Amino acid sequence: MALNRLIRMGIVGGGSDAFIGKVHRMAAQLDSKIRLVAGALSIDPKIAVQSGKDLFLDPKRVYLTYKEMVAAEKALPAEERIDFVAVVTPDDTHVEIATAFLNIGVSVVCEKPVSVKHKDALALRETVKKTGLAFAIMHGYTGYPLVRHARALVRNGGIGKIYKIIAEYPQDWILPRGDAPLHLAGWRMDPKFGTSLSMGDIGIHAAQLVRFVTGLDIETLSADLRTYTPGGRRDDDGNVLVRYKGGAHGVIYASQVSAGEENGLTIRIYGSKGGIEWHQENPNQLIVKTQGEPSKILTRAQPYLDASIPARNTRMPTGHPEGLIEAFANIYLDFADDVAAIAEGGKVSKTHLYPDIEDAVFGKTFVDTAIESNKSKEKWTKFPKV
Ligand SMILES: NC(=O)c1ccc[n+]([C@@H]2O[C@H](COP(=O)([O-])OP(=O)(O)OC[C@H]3O[C@@H](n4cnc5c(N)ncnc54)[C@H](O)[C@@H]3O)[C@@H](O)[C@H]2O)c1
Repeated sequence: MALNRLIRMGIVGGGSDAFIGKVHRMAAQLDSKIRLVAGALSIDPKIAVQSGKDLFLDPKRVYLTYKEMVAAEKALPAEERIDFVAVVTPDDTHVEIATAFLNIGVSVVCEKPVSVKHKDALALRETVKKTGLAFAIMHGYTGYPLVRHARALVRNGGIGKIYKIIAEYPQDWILPRGDAPLHLAGWRMDPKFGTSLSMGDIGIHAAQLVRFVTGLDIETLSADLRTYTPGGRRDDDGNVLVRYKGGAHGVIYASQVSAGEENGLTIRIYGSKGGIEWHQENPNQLIVKTQGEPSKILTRAQPYLDASIPARNTRMPTGHPEGLIEAFANIYLDFADDVAAIAEGGKVSKTHLYPDIEDAVFGKTFVDTAIESNKSKEKWTKFPKV
């Protein structure tokens, strides 16, 4: 039964000083099922208050800290309290904030990577399990309809037995750009967020995309991570050779120093019968390849796409481009189903498509195993079962 009301969202971070929090706010509310009603919108109290005003939030629910928000929301009657919170702050704060909200019965959408320390990701998983609440980790790329089609095609044997997987995520924002201040540079340059910026910030998306499309587990990996930025304290380029269970192998490459690249997340998968290729910068198309035949370019919102992709995952007729906000919105739609079920006394669905706490732990494990391999002499490093 559909919930007969809007789902109430809170946010921590995502004020006017934020990058990705704004995307969350737009995406969550795109389909008129969710409304932002409360937030601790910035670490800077002035920005938090002004952002709350700009968003026309009730001033009583514009908080200066997440702790104040937890206490005040807990004290509200259940019919006013937020149903879930989006945690869109820097990496080192995610677990602490998410745990505090889960402990007052509030579900969580969390930004990646879930934590800086691996043990904190595991502890959060215990809290999610204990509370039975919904938890999504935002790998927004998994929300694109053509990525979901690729998943159905590959998992249903459409390209045969998988042999080779190349997932790359090149950017160039860390290269010097004259005097222009670069918003992204801030906290990301600080090694307290972990030694690997290439894998921790973006390689993690590539690894999760492979997992989402193929469902394959990593058996072992061998990583070569480099820091090219003069004085850089986190690596900004890396190649990871990956062997998957079942025999496929491949490469995950992530870089912030690939000159001329903007946000070039790309996945190519080759199997015994064919291949697929998808580019984040051209997300409305999926290339499907068969040996000896011309490649096909599939597009969004076409009747030939896999029937498992819900109609609600596409909002515009084919040919009108959709992008990252819609992809995030698709994750929010799936997540909202679980939040609605919980509000009606039900449980989190076992078949949800949004990346969850297991994916969050996987991502953190991928980054840490790559760091371990990079440091080791042996290089090939077993991917731990977690
Ligand atoms: N899923 C994606 O595609 C994607 C893209 C970009 C960033 N991210 C992740 O999102 C997170 C945020 O990244 P960003 O680039 O938006 O950072 P940002 O620095 O642009 O924004 C961070 C926001 O959090 C606020 N903040 C910081 N500490 C806070 C606290 N203790 N309480 C309340 N607010 C606080 C800041 O004031 C700001 O509003 C990071 O974990 C990053 O890895 C994910």
